[in-house]
Amino acid sequence: MKILFNKLGEEYKKYKKFFDQKIKKVLKSGNFILGEEVENFEKEFAQYIGVKYCVGVGNGLEALQLSLKALDIGPGDEVITTPLSAVASALCIELVGAKAVFVDIDKYFHLDPTEIEKYITKKTKAILGVHIYGQPFDIEKILKICKKYKLYLIEDCAQAHGAEFKGKKVGSFGAVGCFSFYPTKNLGAFGDAGAIVTNDKRIYEYCKIARNYGQKNQYEHIILGLNSRLDELQAGILRIKLKFLDSLNKKRRKIAELYKSKLKDIPEIKLPLERKNCYHIYHLFVIQVEQRDKLREFLSKKGITTLVHYPKPIHKQLTFKEYNNLSLPNVENVTNKILSLPIHPLLNKKELNYIITTIRKFYQR
Ligand SMILES: Cc1ncc(COP(=O)(O)O)c(C=O)c1O
Repeated sequence: MKILFNKLGEEYKKYKKFFDQKIKKVLKSGNFILGEEVENFEKEFAQYIGVKYCVGVGNGLEALQLSLKALDIGPGDEVITTPLSAVASALCIELVGAKAVFVDIDKYFHLDPTEIEKYITKKTKAILGVHIYGQPFDIEKILKICKKYKLYLIEDCAQAHGAEFKGKKVGSFGAVGCFSFYPTKNLGAFGDAGAIVTNDKRIYEYCKIARNYGQKNQYEHIILGLNSRLDELQAGILRIKLKFLDSLNKKRRKIAELYKSKLKDIPEIKLPLERKNCYHIYHLFVIQVEQRDKLREFLSKKGITTLVHYPKPIHKQLTFKEYNNLSLPNVENVTNKILSLPIHPLLNKKELNYIITTIRKFYQR
């Protein structure tokens, strides 16, 4: 049996009728950039998250970059971030000329709130927390720190579309929430796409102008902006997929439950923990095992694709040379053990059973 990490082609086939209709409609309209699909998606996504405003942008990295600019963060400023994420969660900070300050992680793989205060200086402007793997970080404690030191909270929600803390969606807690709709995300486009959500009118207005060359009216440029526009086709696709997001997230949670119940008797496997009061949407199902590479190879030989998110913490990457000697023991320890098992919502029972029995075989259970 061959089990891929995602089945994006099958997902298209499943909802083909809706997608094909939408694609035809957009192509016929002749309007491909910043039109009615984008406007409607922005309204619908803001409503889904429970915020006043949404700005569709080109991708998740630029959503973060534009948000930092909107908060006037730049040279001379520091932003606290996590070393366990996609590189974009730190890259955005350095790209606006500020300094990324890496803080170690807790047992849920998130920024550890008990570590943060040590790193706050006069230059600290914001905390950029990542709801990694689909689970909210410790929102309450981190918001408290933000309040105490007058810092902005930036939520990187690229892996957490629909995740909740105490019944409220992530992206609605901070000054700003940033989403990626990269095709493999829980809400994924058919190409690159992203969005910024906020309740702050000033941030909204800044981002709307900044995503389009800093253009207030046609050919009237007032700030240094980017070309980071969500296009009509992607917005149309996202509007369709948004309707299915909650049910697909539920399927992911069911798969996670099955993995947990069928693997819980294997002491060599550390299963992912769920934080209290949180609705985890399992963008990734990440286990921790000592013999990670051996297990991965065994599964691969049996046709099962797994991935590692992420094999190297961001502060150990060559891009972040000046941080390479920094020691953050928790993250450095888990990056040798973490393994992401397939969890996309189109995994069928047969495939799931095959993954589970193959893992059990590795441990001779
Ligand atoms: C946590 C996180 N932040 C930011 C990004 C960047 O998103 P994009 O690839 O759309 O630029 C990603 C996606 O890889 C991500 O997983």
